Amino acid sequence: MDKRALYLKNRKKQADIDGVICVCKQVTERKIRKAVREGKKKFISVKQATEAASGCGLCQPFVEDIIEDELKK
Ligand code: FES
Repeated sequence: MDKRALYLKNRKKQADIDGVICVCKQVTERKIRKAVREGKKKFISVKQATEAASGCGLCQPFVEDIIEDELKK
């Protein structure tokens, strides 16, 4: 199984359990949304605040989608 397939499999399992988006750093969707609400409007600032996507980086598109969604609110 390649790295991306393994990530997607693990992410799905963990997202179902506790909302973890970034498997490497165990960052939840809630934590990402909270960072955006606290003023982190760009991917890089959310990454610095939460450590999301600072491991393998495969979760970056998901993190960016959450940031975009939270900014629409
Ligand atoms: S899942 Fe690897 S950096 Fe987020």
